[in-house]
Amino acid sequence: MNRLTAVGCSLLLLALPVLSGCSKEGRQKTESSRKEPTPRATPSSRVQTQTGEELFKQYCAPCHPDGGNVSDPRKNLHGSALKANHITKPEDIVRIMRNPISRMIRFDETTISDKDATAIADYVLSAFK
Ligand code: HEC
Repeated sequence: MNRLTAVGCSLLLLALPVLSGCSKEGRQKTESSRKEPTPRATPSSRVQTQTGEELFKQYCAPCHPDGGNVSDPRKNLHGSALKANHITKPEDIVRIMRNPISRMIRFDETTISDKDATAIADYVLSAFK
């Protein structure tokens, strides 16, 4: 009987971090789509990617949280949607930043430099498969 209780307890203990881990992640995601982005503590080995990620969070994430699209879900930033809309190269994404199709706001060079725009584009292409 004691042994059974012990087994039950340890199973519960094993399951707890998994459950709380999941709900925590879910909460972080909804928060990050609403609030100003805060720099991540996780270090990245590729500086370029980190810069693109930070810029993306600052300029694009409000409308494209996690590579989605809050106003037009079909025009999201995942590889399959981009390909369907003939967006395959970093230049294609930079072009959309400079000349958006309709509801997306325009980002000119004074807001996002060509270098930063390319960093964001590289990030989009590598982060959202
Ligand atoms: C104000 C909200 C908003 C912001 C901010 C925004 N976008 Fe968009 N984006 C849209 C909307 C809406 C569309 C759908 C096309 C349209 O209506 O212009 C779109 C479409 C796109 C597309 C085409 C996706 C596809 O599958 O066809 C790309 C690429 C894109 N955005 C990249 C970016 C990048 C990179 C940034 C940050 C520099 C950004 N967007 C910031 C709203 C936004």
